[in-house]
Amino acid sequence: MVECVCAVLRVLVLQAAWALCGGQVRYSVPEEAKAGTVVGRLAQDLGLEAGEAEARRLRLVAQDRRAGVEVSRASGALVVSSRLDREELCGKSAPCALRLEVLVERPLRVFHVELEVTDINDNAPIFPATRKNLSIAESSMVSSRFLLEGASDADIGANAQLSYTLSPSEHFKVQEENSNSRTKSLFLIITKPLDREMVPVHNLVLTASDGGRPTLTGTMELVISVLDANDNAPQFNQSVYNVHLPEDTVEGMLVTRVNASDPDEGSNRDVKYEIDTVLPSSASDIFSIDVESGEIRLISAMDYEAITMYELHVKVTDKGTPPLSSQCKVVVEVLDVNDNAPEVWVTSLSVPVPEDASVGTVVALLSVSDRDSGANGRVRCWVWPSGPFGLEATFAGSYSLVLREALDRERVSEYEVEVRAEDGGSPALRASRGVRVPVSDVNDNAPAFSQAVYTVLARENNAAGAELARLWAQDPDEAGNGRVSYSVAEGGVGGAAGSSYVSVDAESGRVWALQPLDYEELQVLQFEVRAVDAGEPPLCGNATVQLFVLDENDNAPALLPASSGSGSGTLWAWAAWGAPAGQVVAKIRAVDADSGYNAWLRYELWEPRGKSPFRVGLYSGEVSTARALEEADGPRQRLVIVVRDHGEPARSATATLSVSLVEGAEAALAAGAGSSSLVARSAMGGESGSGAAAATNVWLVVAICAVSSLFLLAVVLYGASRWAPRAAVLAGPGPTTLVCASEVGSWSYSQRHSRSLCVADGAGKSDLMVFSPNFPPPPGSMVKDTHPEPPALGTCFVVNLVLEYKTGKLW
Ligand SMILES: *[C@@H]1O[C@H](CO)[C@@H](O)[C@H](O)[C@H]1NC(C)=O
Ligand SMILES: *[C@@H]1O[C@H](CO)[C@@H](O)[C@H](O)[C@H]1NC(C)=O
Ligand SMILES: *[C@@H]1O[C@H](CO)[C@@H](O)[C@H](O)[C@H]1NC(C)=O
Ligand SMILES: *[C@@H]1O[C@H](CO)[C@@H](O)[C@H](O)[C@H]1NC(C)=O
Repeated sequence: MVECVCAVLRVLVLQAAWALCGGQVRYSVPEEAKAGTVVGRLAQDLGLEAGEAEARRLRLVAQDRRAGVEVSRASGALVVSSRLDREELCGKSAPCALRLEVLVERPLRVFHVELEVTDINDNAPIFPATRKNLSIAESSMVSSRFLLEGASDADIGANAQLSYTLSPSEHFKVQEENSNSRTKSLFLIITKPLDREMVPVHNLVLTASDGGRPTLTGTMELVISVLDANDNAPQFNQSVYNVHLPEDTVEGMLVTRVNASDPDEGSNRDVKYEIDTVLPSSASDIFSIDVESGEIRLISAMDYEAITMYELHVKVTDKGTPPLSSQCKVVVEVLDVNDNAPEVWVTSLSVPVPEDASVGTVVALLSVSDRDSGANGRVRCWVWPSGPFGLEATFAGSYSLVLREALDRERVSEYEVEVRAEDGGSPALRASRGVRVPVSDVNDNAPAFSQAVYTVLARENNAAGAELARLWAQDPDEAGNGRVSYSVAEGGVGGAAGSSYVSVDAESGRVWALQPLDYEELQVLQFEVRAVDAGEPPLCGNATVQLFVLDENDNAPALLPASSGSGSGTLWAWAAWGAPAGQVVAKIRAVDADSGYNAWLRYELWEPRGKSPFRVGLYSGEVSTARALEEADGPRQRLVIVVRDHGEPARSATATLSVSLVEGAEAALAAGAGSSSLVARSAMGGESGSGAAAATNVWLVVAICAVSSLFLLAVVLYGASRWAPRAAVLAGPGPTTLVCASEVGSWSYSQRHSRSLCVADGAGKSDLMVFSPNFPPPPGSMVKDTHPEPPALGTCFVVNLVLEYKTGKLW
């Protein structure tokens, strides 16, 4: 096949050579033809006969480097002797024609043969380097062009016609452009924006293909490094950082850490943090941020009660040119801590509270607050002591202090209450506020005497104005409501108007006599004393005063009949001579206006002493014969008889009795004549007279005993009635007391009075008042008040007032 092609080619070339050169032989041979390949029949073409070529020594004139072809001796053909490389022989010049000189001897002749070496595609395109490093800025625009060094191909013509292709890339393409008519330039063109952050380095292969057949290619590695541009702003890993911090977080604590990253490189990647704004703006100095690390720290204390939430706008900036930045938000929610104690305020106080204020009356308005929130701010309130006051919640945070129980100023005049509050934190905080609530007085207490009945003993004949007693009524109310004034109520029970005898000092309650009291005129005076306070309306209390007048021995005994006697009081009587001893001659009768001892009379014979034939009955006053009367006794006896009472000092009266001694008949006559108005008894009538006196004594004793037993009965009944518990009064009017206490067995004094004393259980004491009529105590002190003792406390003991008598000694 190759032979055939060669032959055809040779013929064609020969023909052409002849035609062109006008006899000059031209040959053409492709380069790189094998050694031995016949280029042309040189001898023949030069007109030599067959075989002649050898004889004539056809040969090539040797030229430098022009080896590669030689003339075959035998055939005289031009054959390839060694490798023919067109690129070596001719370089880029075309066509590549070698001038060969052929020498023939015998005759010597020179021929010029032109040998054209034709090109074959035996050289691949070659790039200047197998690898090329390119750096392209990330920010380069689309369709930016970068000049590339193209490949070269040693071949010529179509074999050197290069075309370029780039390995697939969405960002790049190559393009050839005619720089001028002869050269072309190769450009790398950006077809899509570069992103270093996506593909920092592009590894591409640039292939150059020539136009030969077959095509040969050459490649070059393109390493395109994308240079960073600050095209990325730093980004926080969160757009909002939520932080919860208790309000008592100490200064210096880490609040949170913000973190931003920048995908750029180098300084474009380095970031710094700063706090842009803080909301609220007043809190701008509470937080600080570390420029490098993004750590946000607390530099000043927070207060939940002031600000519950902070919003920080944090900015991060890289160090590129120009710098890029972005922002994030840090929301710091402050958590409440129980750092505020509750507060209690008295907003209004209406005091004093009248003691009759009704239950439910509002005393004070309080406001209670706690600056904390939630459970820490939930306040519980109460009053301490729970007392008569309570709290009522009116609306949120407001309470009213109201009265829960009735007040009594006399019991508690002022309250110190404490309103206590506690919040619901843990631990809870407490607060309290004291409220002083004075209670104002209302006239709700009437003056009260300590006893319903006062027993007052007063000596008779005391001076007008002498103090008899001092009464005292208690009124626990205050000021005017408790200021008591005393007065004697009109209309005494004793029949006599009390006010004519006694008066009460309005202020002091002192009772005094308006006039000297006379026992003989008035033994008992009962009147009412009224105590009125100065309240509005006034209240009053009353007490009964029983005034007993104590007898004084102010009346001397009086002989009866006092008026009928002579001035000297001489009495007359008769006695018969020979009358036996013991015969009653006369009876001296005397009365004493006083009572008791003061009225108890004794009769004594004063004159003559010793040897008188008469004697006087000590108490009967009967004058009787001591012995039988004799003549020697004379016709007339004068007896001086002293009548004394038992008072202290004793008072006395003297009676003079003149006894005429007569015959028995005369005596009887005289007795029958009754000339003596004085009680005079004849010897005969002595029996009847003494009998009458005895009867009188018997009746007296019966009367005394009857009164006495009545009194005892009354005492028993009274005691029984007073024995009942809860006796409200200390004493009451007592029934008559009769005291029979005399050495002689007869009654001596009657006191219409008994006294009961109520004694408190626990005290165990009994008041016993003892007095003697001889030494009556001062009237004022006779009534022993036991007013401080609370009434109605216990059992009453009845203590009988014992009147002790001292028998008055006459001598
Ligand atoms: C291209 O870069 C590679 C690695 O970066 C390096 O080894 C090589 O020498 C560089 N070539 C040129 C021509 O600069
Ligand atoms: C910041 O975030 C990046 C990724 O989001 C992380 O790799 C880096 O470690 C974080 N920095 C700190 C200090 O946590
Ligand atoms: C963001 O960065 C901070 C600090 O490094 C880290 O605590 C936090 O968990 C990160 N957030 C996210 C969503 O990765
Ligand atoms: C006081 O007097 C009034 C009327 O005069 C009477 O009703 C009342 O019982 C008296 N009170 C006392 C304690 O005696």
